[in-house]
Amino acid sequence: MSSFKPDIFAGKVAFVTGGGSGICYGMTQALLAHGANATILGRREANIRDAAAKLTKDTGKECLGIAGDVRKPESLKAAIEATVKRFGRIDFVICGAAGNFLSPISGLSENAFKTVLEIDTMGTYNTIKATIGEVKKAKGAYIAISATLHYRGSVLQAHVSAAKAGIDALMNVVAVEYGPAGVRANVIAPGPIEGTEGVARLIPKDVIAETTKAIPSQRYGTIEDIGNAGVFLFSPAASYVNGAVLVVDGAQWHNSTTSKSVPYPDMFLEEGDTRSKIASRL
Ligand code: HXC
Repeated sequence: MSSFKPDIFAGKVAFVTGGGSGICYGMTQALLAHGANATILGRREANIRDAAAKLTKDTGKECLGIAGDVRKPESLKAAIEATVKRFGRIDFVICGAAGNFLSPISGLSENAFKTVLEIDTMGTYNTIKATIGEVKKAKGAYIAISATLHYRGSVLQAHVSAAKAGIDALMNVVAVEYGPAGVRANVIAPGPIEGTEGVARLIPKDVIAETTKAIPSQRYGTIEDIGNAGVFLFSPAASYVNGAVLVVDGAQWHNSTTSKSVPYPDMFLEEGDTRSKIASRL
């Protein structure tokens, strides 16, 4: 349930990468439910089209779904032009497109490591570059989706850890460089969120049940939890929140009292590990 008025974002426009599913779909839904219109960008054409149609139908606001890849600046440019043509402005940007799979460093090819950095970190950079003109005009705000897994060493996540650390650093600079122009840039660092494709694919059900006990808030997060955090950060209530990381994880990462505080509690690498050997232990 929202604590904000349903029309708080009336007249505002959001541009959301990775908005076709999961957390960023939920964040878009929350913005539309508070009066904004939005464009969502994602790689899978049918998926992004269907997601936009559902968001429009469910909220009564307008959502454009555009197929594109944050690794390709020209596809971002086209999506932004279409957004401004349709809605006239861009106030809020969510840099959410991400890639993730489990692999030890020894199983990561150069291209595997690079691919995740290109989607997450370069994708965030490309999105900022492509939107900053409009966001400055609107004195708007950015939210990048990061994680908490790089605060400690998370096994099988070297590529994602490096990528998310880069996003955190990048957003600090955006806050400082564009703060004087009236732009804010913050990061949301979600813990594991139930109901997302990422968690369903990466964390087996029995691991979810066990690791829940080690989350001080005693539950996994929901997509709505992250949507609410996004509404707050874009709202005037957060007008002095700039360059911040809002961790939304039920205090999961702070809990070092048990090894079960990490999502892969029994996952220790063994000599000669391969992807399939690790997968068989998951
Ligand atoms: C090792 C792997 C691999 C794996 C892919 N690669 N999967 N290496 N282990 N499991 C390697 C490939 O072999 C290839 O290297 C390189 O990575 C690029 O793979 P492609 O499939 O060609 O790339 P692409 O089609 O662009 O796909 C990107 C992707 C993919 C990231 C690899 O997984 C993807 O698109 N996923 C969907 C988006 C996603 O993951 N969203 C979840 C976000 S959830 P070579 O050397 O062979 O060329 C999230 C939070 C989850 O971020 C939190 C849970 C705790």
